Amino acid sequence: MSRSVDVGVRLDAPHLEPKHRLNGVVRAYLERRAAPVAPVGPSPWPAAFFGLEKVKLFREASAEQRAQIVKSCAQNLLVEAYAIEKLGMASAAKMILVSETTEERMTFCHIAGDEASHLAWVTPFVARPEAVADNPFVGLMGGLVETASKHALFYLLQCVLEGWGLSHYRLLADGCVDPGLRASLERILVDERLHHGTGGVLFDPRALRPEDRETISEAMAMVLTMVQVGPQGVAISLFRALGEESLRQAEQVFAELDAQAESAKKLQLLRKLMLGRGVDGLVETLEGQGLFTPFDAAGCSQATAAFLG
Ligand SMILES: [Fe+2]
Ligand SMILES: [Fe+2]
Repeated sequence: MSRSVDVGVRLDAPHLEPKHRLNGVVRAYLERRAAPVAPVGPSPWPAAFFGLEKVKLFREASAEQRAQIVKSCAQNLLVEAYAIEKLGMASAAKMILVSETTEERMTFCHIAGDEASHLAWVTPFVARPEAVADNPFVGLMGGLVETASKHALFYLLQCVLEGWGLSHYRLLADGCVDPGLRASLERILVDERLHHGTGGVLFDPRALRPEDRETISEAMAMVLTMVQVGPQGVAISLFRALGEESLRQAEQVFAELDAQAESAKKLQLLRKLMLGRGVDGLVETLEGQGLFTPFDAAGCSQATAAFLG
């Protein structure tokens, strides 16, 4: 039988001074796979990766503003990846403790090591690790790692979100112009494919209690709501760089970013990942709440205005 464990994700856990001897130890472990590399340019992804060249306000901005916007969009992605890998370590640590068989524990010991490597590969690219606190998706995931049962987490994290992560990291790798980061993202993809597949093996819908189903349904509703509102991170980077005036053109910006079509694709991917795993009625319930329907440009604009408050 598994016992309950108290998990703190410690997203704000500090990094040691570079000269600390433990860094040498960590490096020795990492170098058995691949040592982290430093960034070569100001942004690992170009403006086109974010669809920014289609946005009139962006094209008309000064070179300095454009550079600032692209950098901010890239940092959003990198800080999110940094946080997700940090959460991956915490989640694997919890799973190691609540494992019921030797093989289950061995599996999560391996996954924990993978997530530590991923974190190390992403970290040199992150300007402000403390920015994790501003990301609502990260906040939601952190809460789940701390409080959800292992069977709810098998479904949410491994079956659905690591599946989603595969397609996300695929896009990041394909569009990446920094050769070192690109190579790291390709390696992360190999590992994450295995983590996602592990979820398929370990998750058993019969092990879900009614409260686990509740947790899954509420968490997925929140994830879908975050996807429905379109590329808010890109739009907010643009509005922040160009000033409050630019917010008046938010609807046009979301239309130029093709927000509705892009969100529709992401929502369908999530739907596909959720289906066929024996969690009866989940997709139907969320569908009934209209959560697989992306917002149009006007809806995205309103949601962003509300978010910026
Ligand atoms: Fe990872
Ligand atoms: Fe993972």
